[in-house]
Amino acid sequence: MMKKEELRIVKLTEIARETTEMVLQNAYISKTAEPGQFLHIGVEGHTLRRPISIANIDRENETITVLFKQLGEGTKALSRYQVGMKINALGPSGNGFTFDNKKNKTILLVGGGIGIPPLYCLGKTLAKQGVKIISVLGFQTADSVFYEEKFNDLGETFITTNDGTYGHHGFVTDILDEVGEYDCYYSCGPLPMLQAVTTKLKGQQGYISLEERMGCGVGACFACVIPTDNQGGYKKICKDGPVFAASEVAL
Ligand code: FES
Repeated sequence: MMKKEELRIVKLTEIARETTEMVLQNAYISKTAEPGQFLHIGVEGHTLRRPISIANIDRENETITVLFKQLGEGTKALSRYQVGMKINALGPSGNGFTFDNKKNKTILLVGGGIGIPPLYCLGKTLAKQGVKIISVLGFQTADSVFYEEKFNDLGETFITTNDGTYGHHGFVTDILDEVGEYDCYYSCGPLPMLQAVTTKLKGQQGYISLEERMGCGVGACFACVIPTDNQGGYKKICKDGPVFAASEVAL
């Protein structure tokens, strides 16, 4: 159940260009969060909270890790916070990834940019349960690459950059024919990437996590609606998602 909690910053690192990794201590959220859920973080002086996906859950040390890109004033301000300071957040928010580790022995993770952190959380959890992980990760340039080693520890990992400065020159979809057999895919990243991935992998079992600028984050304001595939209905990303079956929503 989501609650409003105070979290203490225990580590703050710029791990790639304009990309901050923040480790937060909180007993309740670290015990209850699941891969795919997010924190809705309040930033002092900013009315709207920032939805930020969970990249790691450490139940033993009672910490949660989040990664965010310093894109707007709110996230820039958040990146200037100091270790020891407290932030407040609603969490754990949303519905996490669905997985069946009995049926799906091999999974494919396809992530783009700041959509990659929740996939790491999922991959780490499933690798511990004996699931084979294959990852395809896309970044803009060499200096925006992060977590390559961590994903290598989970299994075979392919890196692409849009400008060719590191790994394969191109997009994650260029690699999808080379990854071999898998039972189910999970994808998170910018909308054009998700559209390309779900089109290319149509007919396969898959789940996507949608990143969206949110208002209330609790299903009350309709700022985050997305059409469902066929019935003319809609879903709220903050409350019904952020994870959906790929066949469930129209991108
Ligand atoms: Fe308000 Fe989703 S952010 S309904």
